[in-house]
Amino acid sequence: MPDSQGTTLHPRPVLAGAAGASAAAEADSPAVEFRDIDIAYGKFVAVRDFSLSIRKGSFVTLLGPSGCGKTTILRSIAGLVDISDGQIMIDGRRVDDIPIYKRNIGLVFQSYALFPHKNVFDNVAFGLKYRNVPKPEITRKVGKALEMVRLPGSEKKLPSQLSGGQQQRIALARAIVFEPQVLLLDEPLSALDANMREEMRVEIKKIQKETGITAIFVTHDQEEALSMSDRIVVMNAGAVEQIGTPQEVYDTPATAFVADFLGKANMLAGTVSRSGQAVVLASSQTITVACSRPLAEGSKVTVVVRPQKFSVGAAVSANRLSGRVVSASYLGGSAIYDIDIGGKTNLRVNAPITGRVLREGEAIDLGFDPEGCVLLDEDGRRIS
Ligand SMILES: Nc1ncnc2c1ncn2[C@@H]1O[C@H](COP(=O)(O)OP(=O)(O)O)[C@@H](O)[C@H]1O
Ligand SMILES: [Mg+2]
Repeated sequence: MPDSQGTTLHPRPVLAGAAGASAAAEADSPAVEFRDIDIAYGKFVAVRDFSLSIRKGSFVTLLGPSGCGKTTILRSIAGLVDISDGQIMIDGRRVDDIPIYKRNIGLVFQSYALFPHKNVFDNVAFGLKYRNVPKPEITRKVGKALEMVRLPGSEKKLPSQLSGGQQQRIALARAIVFEPQVLLLDEPLSALDANMREEMRVEIKKIQKETGITAIFVTHDQEEALSMSDRIVVMNAGAVEQIGTPQEVYDTPATAFVADFLGKANMLAGTVSRSGQAVVLASSQTITVACSRPLAEGSKVTVVVRPQKFSVGAAVSANRLSGRVVSASYLGGSAIYDIDIGGKTNLRVNAPITGRVLREGEAIDLGFDPEGCVLLDEDGRRIS
């Protein structure tokens, strides 16, 4: 952690000795590592074969639909749920060897979970008192944490005197005040209104960068994940679908699930033509695809194209398709069109406006670069 910049809350973690390893070994090991973990509730396996290595100081997001196992994984790090198989390492040390009360972990939940009858100071000071930090130091650290979350001087207020967003800031201050090894955030923004949510995205990211804390963030909101994360772990039904940077998972989804879950994706079903380099769509139009190896003639594939990857009208240079505008919405600099290209296929296109916005029923030419699409095989896996 950067402790020479005056940006951290204090130079050493309160439980500095918890990892029990030398400083050099600590620096090399991932902040958190999951090795093939399974987690079951009774007979129901909620998480299967989950492996992930999280670099120190990074911001990693678990993204997936409700029920896919995100909270379960967070709880396993904190020791709130037992793993049935595999290993979890924190700072290179098996968590089984670290009693729960010694795991140096900050938690922020969707519900702020502040103590309603304690004032802000006592709420934030909780983790420090628990760790027997001397009083003057507690006062100083609480003050600094409140400054970080931009609520300085709010020590005497009660949670009920604060807005939802402010309460969530206090919850964040409480989680970072003892400089935990890992900060776990479980859908911390979902109870906030849209404006506050966007503001808090930026705020959380800024605090994470400033403190250099390792953060694991959970959300089902793809925009949140794309805008905040160094890496995203896309999950489905207890298993990992893909791990990558926001751009990797958005631009080159590994599976049909990832393509579909991360924003709008056009999924064009087709059949590989004789040349092995082109795909005939259900609309009978033929398109060229970029693939490093020849595809088997006649095999069924899906061509995934993001709405922003299309060019329209005079700008079309490859894979020209003709269609008709089903609906158009003007967004300022660009427009979103739904376009019927025949064969019961509608495409969603997000194109910059060069001339006027096309109207419903008008003919339209569109195209996309062969490099701008991803090919999935019959099982929905990317063909690389
Ligand atoms: N205490 C529990 N007992 C039994 N099943 C549970 C328990 N907690 C979660 N589950 C189940 O485990 C799965 C994963 O839950 P969870 O980790 O909360 O998902 P997420 O946070 O992604 O919405 C879900 O099917 C959920 O119903
Ligand atoms: Mg959850």
